[in-house]
Amino acid sequence: MTAQLPEQTGPTQDAQAQGPHPVSERLQHLRAGGVSLMLAIRPDAPPAILYWGEDLGNLDDAQLASITAASAPRQTSNMPEDPILLTVLPENSRSWPGTPGIEGHRDGRAFSTKFATTSWRCDPDGLGGWACVCKAEDVDAELELAVDIELTAQGLAKLRARLTNTGNSPYQLQSLTLALPVPDLADELMDFGGHHLHERAPQRHEFTQGTHVREECRGRTGLDATLLVLAGEKGFDFGTGKIWGVHTAWSGNHRMLAERLPSGERILAGGEVLQPGEITLASDESYESPWLFASFGNGMDELSARFHEYLRTTHPLRRPRPVTGNSWEAVYFDHKLEPLVSLADAFAEVGVERFVLDDGWFSHRRDDHAGLGDWEVDREVWPDGLHPLVEHVRARGMEFGLWVEPEMINPDSDLARAHPDWIMGMPWRLPPESRHQQVLNLAIPEAYDHIHSRLDALIDEYQLTYLKWDHNRDLVEAGNRVTGRATVHAQTLAVYRLIDKLKADHPGLEIESCSSGGGRADLGILERTDRMWGSDCTDAHERQQIQRYTSLLVPPEMLGSHISASENHQTWRRLSLSMRAITAIFADLGVEWDVSKLSAAEREQLAEWIALYKHWRPLLHTGKAIRIDSPDPAFWVNGVVSQDRTRALFAIVPMGTSITAPPGMWRPRGLDPERSYRVEPLEISRSTVDKTPYQPLRWWGEGLTATGKTLAEHGLRIPDLPPDEPVLVSFEEES
Ligand code: DGJ
Repeated sequence: MTAQLPEQTGPTQDAQAQGPHPVSERLQHLRAGGVSLMLAIRPDAPPAILYWGEDLGNLDDAQLASITAASAPRQTSNMPEDPILLTVLPENSRSWPGTPGIEGHRDGRAFSTKFATTSWRCDPDGLGGWACVCKAEDVDAELELAVDIELTAQGLAKLRARLTNTGNSPYQLQSLTLALPVPDLADELMDFGGHHLHERAPQRHEFTQGTHVREECRGRTGLDATLLVLAGEKGFDFGTGKIWGVHTAWSGNHRMLAERLPSGERILAGGEVLQPGEITLASDESYESPWLFASFGNGMDELSARFHEYLRTTHPLRRPRPVTGNSWEAVYFDHKLEPLVSLADAFAEVGVERFVLDDGWFSHRRDDHAGLGDWEVDREVWPDGLHPLVEHVRARGMEFGLWVEPEMINPDSDLARAHPDWIMGMPWRLPPESRHQQVLNLAIPEAYDHIHSRLDALIDEYQLTYLKWDHNRDLVEAGNRVTGRATVHAQTLAVYRLIDKLKADHPGLEIESCSSGGGRADLGILERTDRMWGSDCTDAHERQQIQRYTSLLVPPEMLGSHISASENHQTWRRLSLSMRAITAIFADLGVEWDVSKLSAAEREQLAEWIALYKHWRPLLHTGKAIRIDSPDPAFWVNGVVSQDRTRALFAIVPMGTSITAPPGMWRPRGLDPERSYRVEPLEISRSTVDKTPYQPLRWWGEGLTATGKTLAEHGLRIPDLPPDEPVLVSFEEES
């Protein structure tokens, strides 16, 4: 069925194509944040993206029409007469032979769709971006589709679809995948792998013919999850090359993919991964996909900055992020009031602003074998509840936060003994335990209510302003043991509901998303929480890589990073305080270390680093993050430049020994090319270089003044630094 399309609404001078198009077709040119997104609306198809990339400027109708004319293919040998029409929901009925936008059926029938647009509108979103809704239907398949397409003020594209069954028979949905085209300039793919303690390891490949799928079926984002699938010009890096990237904003099973067809089409796509039978739409029921985010940039820093700025809009900083002191690597499960009071004193002395009591405070939780689900304070360890500790912490001027793991249950717990059916699994089998725990099915209303009321009561009793929300295992055979049906989708929504409710009922409550470290780090969770724990690996050398790539999506002020013991608990590597501190200050700083055992002099040194962080925190948490690949692989450089480009702080991090002697140059980017900057090593870093037996570099000793352009093009000599002994350099505009 075709329909006359209503006129579009909103500012339109860039919007309507004429000329070769029938009257009822429209080209809608969305422009925001330096990005153009060209939407083609046709009455006989779902919307299609004709162009996504660099802002094309203001285009009149004739110029817009030329976009379609310029790219329309002609039929060639052995191709269907209707050439491939790539829409945001690619359909086989439009000759698309690649990954389908929708897979589903009615007991085997209606297995393919052909949607036709019935109405659409595009409006300014009031924040400097655009919001479009396109409705379509397939009357034969008895399905309706509503696609939201947004271009945010930061230049991020967002796509989401809602599918409704308008027929009388149930419709079994297997997948819904949304897609954006990328041009044939994008020759190289980059995504990320990893594992526990080693999240976000980059991998690169050629964008060859076929499909590169990154699928996570772990019921959480995943420790090995790629947060982005990127396609870019060959050799793209942080500062150069056009890059397009997608991110699926979903904390359950999901995927992202890059696909190249022999006919030349290249797409980036993503959506939720549904388990068999998970979504069956009864008459009038709908399924809503997660948002698929898409970012374009000249260099990865620009692509990444769009995510940072977007999250800064949805999560405006109400106050400086408090420095966290976390008890985990200080005392683990060994909870006793006296040592924890001493820890709180020592935390306060070094400048910690929020004390977080980690795992081990609740019933039966003397180690990780028991207790999850029993969210009552353990009266044997805490005869007066947590009150004496909480009061002490507050008396020392710190806030108090508490660790919880609401979605988990130990078989050895009162909750599991009372409600074995609340554990996820198959009716006839339980999944293998992981860390001695199973998953609690929060899609069961009684289980949800129980956990909600326990968390609610704890927040009320201790006036908690912070929860560290952990999730320490993959979901395996995640089903409802009574109905026998898969339940990851429902679980993900239940967790979102629970967090949203707690936050709505307790204004000001902040939540840290943790999942065996960095296992839950998608925009589905990040849009409703305040911080994510980057990794269970607190080794600063390892953290350099983890943070460099996690921060492509997560802004520094939301990425938790802690200074821990010199001999690291995960890798046994010994690192200096400056390496540990310089790594952690470029994120949301915390301390996770028994600082009560340090000498007064050691505490003083730590306090100095925390004070330095507090001084730079306003810049670090609002500026533009820069990562630099210096030609010498031994030297990693990262920094933050203020939005007005008047100041910057950079770290030069020697990850190994230099390939040349003396080391070569580094070229700080992101400063204003025309302005002059005073360049100085930070006082705290001088001793690092002074310790080396060589003549100091001239610029190191005296500082220098240079323009942003000279610095970016000519650069500065890298100091000869021992491995893992980084330094900090400041840039201040000279007036
Ligand atoms: C895993 C987390 O990532 C750690 O920081 C700690 O909270 C433990 N869980 C506690 O069990």
